[in-house]
Amino acid sequence: MIDKSMPGSAVTSNGDAAVHSIVQASTELILEQQTPGGAYPASPSFSAYAGYCWFRDGSYIADAMSAAGHIDSAERFFDWCSNVLTSRSGRIRHIVAESLAGRPPADEQMLPTRFTLEGDDGNDEWWDFQLDGYGTWLWALAEHSARYGRPLERWAEAIALTVDYLACSWDRPCYDWWEEAAQHVHVSTLGCISSGLASIVATGHLEETSALRSTETVELIRRRVQNDGVRNTHLTKWLGTDALDASLLALIAPMNFLEPVSPVGKGTVSAVEEQLTVNNGVHRYLTDSYYGGGQWPLLSCFLGLAQEAAGNRPRARELLDWAASTARGGTELPEQVEDNLLDAEYLQPWIDRWGPSASPLLWSHAMFIRLATALDITRHTDRSASGLQTNEKGL
Ligand code: BGC
Repeated sequence: MIDKSMPGSAVTSNGDAAVHSIVQASTELILEQQTPGGAYPASPSFSAYAGYCWFRDGSYIADAMSAAGHIDSAERFFDWCSNVLTSRSGRIRHIVAESLAGRPPADEQMLPTRFTLEGDDGNDEWWDFQLDGYGTWLWALAEHSARYGRPLERWAEAIALTVDYLACSWDRPCYDWWEEAAQHVHVSTLGCISSGLASIVATGHLEETSALRSTETVELIRRRVQNDGVRNTHLTKWLGTDALDASLLALIAPMNFLEPVSPVGKGTVSAVEEQLTVNNGVHRYLTDSYYGGGQWPLLSCFLGLAQEAAGNRPRARELLDWAASTARGGTELPEQVEDNLLDAEYLQPWIDRWGPSASPLLWSHAMFIRLATALDITRHTDRSASGLQTNEKGL
């Protein structure tokens, strides 16, 4: 299934023009869709996502907007997250107290992964207990603060609540990035939590006890991943398996949990290239059947960011160009494309259930902006403070 015969980088002015117009349209779409309260809707028109904002999607969107110079948009999203958290401070303190007393609340009592645009809990059934987004918001906020020297006082209470919540729950099994397999502890989830805590510690904003608790948690996570989350020189989908998942790419770049040039960093990128990438389009994981298991432009962008971080810019550019090739009507980026489906018989059942798969997906647009920015194909230069976590990244 691997096609490594693609030609080398062709950085043409036509290609640059396509990238520029997608970046511009993506920025306009994200700004236009962001609510006055700061929420980024995941996909305004897709039946199952409409009306909701995810901590995961939103944090990567905010990071892309920040990296591309849209400070106000990113900070309005952080305000939205902060309101979601501080308006639930009693509930979060209860979760923390019960967990520390050895009585961890049931999964249904934990914070959901998505909220309505107004910041309320939703009424629809969802695969809600996911921890990664809470780490990712801390990470995106810390990166933003370091990138522009922005003070963090405005979000202080929400940061403290998140640190306490994550420090007492990081090792619980929960749904992963793809809202699946709740019985496992997922390595990408652990990495997102660790990056969030390490980045926020590096800002110097936390009080001593909070900083100590965060640092201890980061160390525990690193040890856990080192012992149970690496096989055949690559990170694994969950602890104790050999399987791979493309969400792990985010831990190399932009989240810097793992050095791109370390053996496991290199091994993870190679494994994703070999097992999950077909003609530059990246699958989530080998047994994916959601909408038949297509290829996700946002994952090609994450692979591009990891390749760029490893110094392989031509490869990153090929991946960006593939993501550009999935744009509908020239500029609209979908969640996935129905090319090289892994399990085609599952496509129609999902269409029957929810209609055609999500498009536009704001997260896809954001990752496109993020990679184009890292490759300096946009007006703005990436001033990412990704050197924040300097210890033990080689695993
Ligand atoms: C994906 C999630 C994503 C959500 C909203 C789901 O299909 O699995 O990762 O957060 O859509 O975009």
